[in-house]
Amino acid sequence: MTIDVAPHLFSPIKVGDLELKHRIVMGPLTRSRSPKEVANTLNAEYYGQRATDGGLLISEGTSPSLTAAGYPNVPGILTEEQSKGWKLSTAAVHAKGGYIYAQLWHTGRAGKSEFQPDKKAPVSASAIPIDGKETPRALDLDEIKYVVNEFQTSAKWAREAGFDGIEIHAAHGYLIDQFLQTSSNKRDDHYGGSIENRARFLFEVVDAVLKELPASKVAIRLSPWLGIQNVSDEDPETLFKYVLVKLNAYKLAYIHLTEPVWGGWQQGPPHSQSKLQILRPLITSPTKLLLTGGYTLETGEEAVAAGRADIIGYGRPFITNPDLVERFRLGKPLTDYSDPSKYYGGGREGYADYLTWEEEEQRKEKKEKLIPGSGATHSKY
Ligand SMILES: Cc1cc2nc3c(=O)[nH]c(=O)nc-3n(C[C@H](O)[C@H](O)[C@H](O)COP(=O)(O)O)c2cc1C
Repeated sequence: MTIDVAPHLFSPIKVGDLELKHRIVMGPLTRSRSPKEVANTLNAEYYGQRATDGGLLISEGTSPSLTAAGYPNVPGILTEEQSKGWKLSTAAVHAKGGYIYAQLWHTGRAGKSEFQPDKKAPVSASAIPIDGKETPRALDLDEIKYVVNEFQTSAKWAREAGFDGIEIHAAHGYLIDQFLQTSSNKRDDHYGGSIENRARFLFEVVDAVLKELPASKVAIRLSPWLGIQNVSDEDPETLFKYVLVKLNAYKLAYIHLTEPVWGGWQQGPPHSQSKLQILRPLITSPTKLLLTGGYTLETGEEAVAAGRADIIGYGRPFITNPDLVERFRLGKPLTDYSDPSKYYGGGREGYADYLTWEEEEQRKEKKEKLIPGSGATHSKY
């Protein structure tokens, strides 16, 4: 007799060519702590702290193009120097038996002219600004080709840096999403108009990355129905069904979808009623489905057990809990992650100085000995 046991967060799973020992993935988190756009030893310490044996991390968005950066101190991956900088992080993660994908992130019109070559306007599909931001300039056909080539170059440098794979950031209203959706793409050439045309840039980027890495090491992030940064579509269901059916045929390692209710920062239906479930059947083995946004230990377990996702991404909880995986395993409370003041920029503080559960306990014991009654406080999330 065989007994069917539903998978849970600690069931192993094969993702691309990686044999993961659990399904708790660290989501990409921009932390703006790489001066001169080169990943450094502090970044390596931070990623190393969050690595686990057989666990997958996704790097913060890293710039794959001269026109990609939209925010200060974001590390790039376009040059040999930047690749060497990242090597420190991949080595720190591998030393713990973990894996790390690089997220290639072009911000497009979400960027600023101050980060652009020659301080030109940021680039996009069309010259349509995000409310309150600079008006971008539309990429011409030669420039599109150039940016696609830059993605390929970056994929090569990511491989050289020792990354286990690449996640292409096509979500959250950034450049690839700006091409995809009707609100930001009014082009009248073969990159605009029909769904096929609007998705052309996305597939050219995927194909460029696949020149450097096999499909089993490539992934992509999309955010259907998210609607941030003024990006929306006249018919999102048809658009994302088209894109996912085509992507599924590539047999990528995983497809990463962001829950439309942005990480619990907005009120919305429970995860079990997420609109993303309309798309779930389109993603089939060997490609795995990664869902991120507002998940807890309990809702992550439920989603995996019900087959709504194969692996679950956690963003903010990983910021303040370097040992998130262990805390989940032991059922320990989490250090509060709701204060955004340390998310972006700064140094080690609020970045690589968060304690593990064990360290907190030791510190409490020490304090108890000195001042009875004192001790670190936790808030359960
Ligand atoms: C500080 C911060 C930085 C982020 N940076 C990125 C990023 O570089 N790339 C990306 O795809 N998502 C980014 N996100 C989104 C997260 O990956 C994740 O989707 C979001 O935090 C919701 O998940 P959570 O509820 O588990 O935090 C960021 C989120 C936060 C809070």
